[in-house]
Amino acid sequence: MTWALVPAAGSGRRFGGEVPKQYLHAAGKPLLEHALDALLSHPGVDGAVVSLAAGDPRWPGWTTLHGKPVLACIGGVERADSVLAALHALPADVAADELVLVHDAARPNLHADDITRLIAAAAAHPDGAILAAPVRDTLKRADGEGGIVATEPREALWRAFTPQAFRRDLLRRALADAQAAGIVATDEAMAVERLGCRPRLVEGREDNLKVTTPADLALAEILLARRTP
Ligand code: C5P
Repeated sequence: MTWALVPAAGSGRRFGGEVPKQYLHAAGKPLLEHALDALLSHPGVDGAVVSLAAGDPRWPGWTTLHGKPVLACIGGVERADSVLAALHALPADVAADELVLVHDAARPNLHADDITRLIAAAAAHPDGAILAAPVRDTLKRADGEGGIVATEPREALWRAFTPQAFRRDLLRRALADAQAAGIVATDEAMAVERLGCRPRLVEGREDNLKVTTPADLALAEILLARRTP
């Protein structure tokens, strides 16, 4: 049994504006709904837990989507706190060694073939796996005043996407341990790496973009409109 955990408790401060970015619309639906549709329409995903801000007035109150259960819980101050809260809200019959897939609500353009390959890689490796892509641009180190100090080698560098897939109990231990140490993990893999594990990199589609800026939203609109029949 594989469940998805969807952190959607952010206030979207970096994007600006009134509406948290998971509720911005693209191709006629909120980004959160696109993300849940992508996850729950996949045959390998059995249900989803969504972390929400306390008193979220925009949550539509779904309890099922695509015939699968949707649970909601209250998120936390940081994204990692929201993911940990979602882990605690999982049904008891999701065993400690079952996979969970953590996916940002602000990533609306997830394709089924990426989910399939991620689940296969994570199932085959005890340390889990994440979708990611190699860095393709040349990387510059800045001096803080708009000048270039150095050109950094990019050969071994990857950009981390979501979903990220781990066994339920490994992820719980990793996030709880990081939280206790006062370390803010910006993705699940970072917390798992701290335990000495080496999650696998699964090369994913580069159009699995996270909406952070208005330009990202414009791009998401184009990508999603193209997919809609
Ligand atoms: O802000 P960022 O792009 O890192 O947010 C990624 C995802 O994490 C978003 O879907 C956002 O709603 C969620 N989040 C959360 N709880 C927080 C902060 C962010 O669930 N405290």
